[in-house]
Amino acid sequence: MVKISVSILTNDDLDTILKLNKTDVDYIHIDVMDGKFVSDVKFPLSKINEIGEYSSKKLDVHLMVKNADYYIDNLDYPNIEYLTVHYEALRDISSVIKKIKNKGIKCGLSVKPNTDIKDIFDLLGDIDLVLIMSVEPGFGGQEFLFSSTRKVKELKSEIEKRNLNTIISIDGGINNTNSKWCIEAGCDMLVSGSYIINSNDYQSAIDSLR
Ligand code: DX5
Ligand code: ZN
Repeated sequence: MVKISVSILTNDDLDTILKLNKTDVDYIHIDVMDGKFVSDVKFPLSKINEIGEYSSKKLDVHLMVKNADYYIDNLDYPNIEYLTVHYEALRDISSVIKKIKNKGIKCGLSVKPNTDIKDIFDLLGDIDLVLIMSVEPGFGGQEFLFSSTRKVKELKSEIEKRNLNTIISIDGGINNTNSKWCIEAGCDMLVSGSYIINSNDYQSAIDSLR
């Protein structure tokens, strides 16, 4: 079954985390922003560590930052399963991937909507997850870009052709309509923020995405 990762957006209060603990959501997605790669600034290290402590779910941390080393070096790694960096943000992508793997954490690589998916094909054997952005990174509540489903299909067929274990996740504007298109295209995980967080029943919103 497809995994669901809930982006808490700005709801970083303990209450939201405790409510999510009671659902069967698979991961909590933390959008880290540095004011450089994207304009917003969100989630200092202390906050990520705190969320990890209170959450009974594993964390799926999405680093929308230019200086990924700072986070990789200084996080406490509370419950983190995936640490995802942006292909477009980093100069020496291979050494960043190695550094994450050396911490014993699964490494994700994210691509923006206008990045050709073929650009990361060489790296597929070194990473655990590809995060396809279905909106421009920066903030929640944007509309899903349909073109991202084509990207997922292209990536899926490359992964299958090479018999790799890399999983495909998609992030941005996911709701209970386009979630079906994403699953059909080959996504293993869906990241959803507004659709779950703005609903009045987290569990039914999660159910409706699967
Ligand atoms: C965009 C973030 C996403 C997004 C998810 O920069 O990476 O995680 O905010 O929120 P929705 O589902 O509202 O697009
Ligand atoms: Zn994200």
